[in-house]
Amino acid sequence: MTEINKGKLFGIGVGPGDSELLTLKAVKILNEIPVICSPRSAPDKESIALSIVKGIIEEREDFKDLTVLEPVFPMTEDSLTLEKHWDDASELIAEYLNKGLDVAFITLGDPSIYSTFSYVQKRLEDSYFIEIIPGINSFAACASSIKKPLVEKDDVLIIIPKIKENLEVLLENGNTIALMKTSRNKKELENKINQQNREKEIFSVENCTMANEKIIQGFSQNRNYLSTTIIKFKE
Ligand SMILES: C[S@@+](CC[C@H](N)C(=O)[O-])C[C@H]1O[C@@H](n2cnc3c(N)ncnc32)[C@H](O)[C@@H]1O
Repeated sequence: MTEINKGKLFGIGVGPGDSELLTLKAVKILNEIPVICSPRSAPDKESIALSIVKGIIEEREDFKDLTVLEPVFPMTEDSLTLEKHWDDASELIAEYLNKGLDVAFITLGDPSIYSTFSYVQKRLEDSYFIEIIPGINSFAACASSIKKPLVEKDDVLIIIPKIKENLEVLLENGNTIALMKTSRNKKELENKINQQNREKEIFSVENCTMANEKIIQGFSQNRNYLSTTIIKFKE
């Protein structure tokens, strides 16, 4: 009996929202791949990454033969629940890789930044060949939208995803802060930043590069998930 060669797993960053910001390499793979995996946060919620590539994959002549897997990765901080979903998704992907089919796991922005792809990658990298295609990350896209450089000369950029014990130290030592996942701990974070006795400019971008992009001077007033705040301290 001949053994079927295993398929290859691609981790593809699809950028922040505008599908014209996909890389040529990502588009080439998405036009050829037999299986796309795109996690969603709840069974009734459309995957954001999938909505970004939809126009491209629907143009494929073989679109009806394309398999699209949409495992649920819930927005919870309960580690047992998360582990279970990451295990299940990895097993599902492995089923296709074992059949010799390549799988593209698509992810918002870049796959190396707070991406669900990392959890699948850790589970599969010892058994399968993996290639990662970078994407434009959200804070780089936000810098373009607000038309400001993120860092110049020796500036230090700090990415903060939530309140941590060392928040004050981080805030004191960065020239620019990219505040991500801002829908969590909003008020407390804002207070800590406002308490910093340094002159600063604050911009928030909601739905960056999407049709409904909104730029706000200061902090965003709602709990929009796709919102990033850039704080530039002036020395
Ligand atoms: C789970 S992280 C994913 C980050 C992504 N991998 C990246 O490279 O930017 C989700 C957070 O990224 C930020 N984000 C992603 N896309 C965005 C967009 N289009 N506009 C504003 N913020 C965005 C938000 O802070 C959001 O809460």
